Amino acid sequence: TQVEKAGYKHFMAKEIAEQPVVLGDALRHYLTLDGVNLPPELDFSSIERLTLVACGTAFYACSVAKYWFETLAGIPCEIDVASEFRYREPPMPIQSYALFVSQSGETADTLAALRYCAGKVAKTVAVVNVPSSSIAREADLALPILAGVEVGVASTKAFTCQLLALAVMALKAGRDRGHLTKVQFDGHLDTLRAMPGLMNAALTTADDIAKLAEQLAEAQDILFLGRGPMYPLALEGALKLKEISYIHAEGYASGELKHGPIALIDRTVPVIVMAPHDKLFDKTVSNMQEVMARHGKVLLVTDGKGVASAAEGTWAHLRMPEVAEPFAPLLYALPAQLLAYYTAIAKGTDVDQPRNLAKSVTVE
Ligand code: G6P
Repeated sequence: TQVEKAGYKHFMAKEIAEQPVVLGDALRHYLTLDGVNLPPELDFSSIERLTLVACGTAFYACSVAKYWFETLAGIPCEIDVASEFRYREPPMPIQSYALFVSQSGETADTLAALRYCAGKVAKTVAVVNVPSSSIAREADLALPILAGVEVGVASTKAFTCQLLALAVMALKAGRDRGHLTKVQFDGHLDTLRAMPGLMNAALTTADDIAKLAEQLAEAQDILFLGRGPMYPLALEGALKLKEISYIHAEGYASGELKHGPIALIDRTVPVIVMAPHDKLFDKTVSNMQEVMARHGKVLLVTDGKGVASAAEGTWAHLRMPEVAEPFAPLLYALPAQLLAYYTAIAKGTDVDQPRNLAKSVTVE
């Protein structure tokens, strides 16, 4: 079936905007009234390690999920980009699951990584958007992310749907291993159920973001900072921005700022801080103040509490609705995508077909 832009200027704009609906559909598939709907053979109780492998945006979804599998389920979790993983001959404990996350299900390196693991681990699991894809067919088990067709080269709704499928798995793992109480588990399910509504609220910042983007478009370099599960989201924000606006952007762990990138800071460098008011917020704020002391232009993306306590002295801030830990990356993905989108619009680049990039990389 032909996918249309449905009144939007670009597929990317449409795909960003439809996330509340698409994520709602995925939630209806993966959440039941009192639990999660995952194949019973996906049992994490005696699994000693997880390995998550992917490329590009899907790799950043894995990087967020590592925090979730560790904190929610207590499973040691290894992540790598497929092009490294496939050649470094990693030892694979048999009591482990290997997960391969891919929108297309056809990325050559990810497929090769899957083939490397076949027979070495208890189960290979594909997390894909295209159920008929090579990666889905070759894995022992395939889980759909249910994002619908994604046309924009820069992945948006597939990213949040990958995060959702991985979050649901991490919660099941938490229950299987007795790491989460039923009350904690139910609380996390409620957070996920609230996500489409929160995403709708996040999308209302689009006009403010479009205005900020006109100034971001003047920059040569942009830094993204985050801590905890927001660190990989900072990496994804930087990837999205460089992919479509061609501005050099880097994501950094807030705490690593002083080990290098702070040397770059001056009045011309925007620093985008992705920081919900969570238990690490104060630490991130002190990193942000180090930037401000050097006249860096801070854009703080936070919630109401974060705005009240830390927005003073920043160049600008964006207010997100409050979201319970540790699922903020699902929500903060949206302002990150919108910042990239509107900066690219301000620069006049080809948003849906950025130069030199392909939607699916089926050769090495
Ligand atoms: C390309 C696309 C990215 C995508 C990556 C991995 O680089 O431009 O948007 O994240 O491939 O693709 P996959 O289909 O495996 O998720």
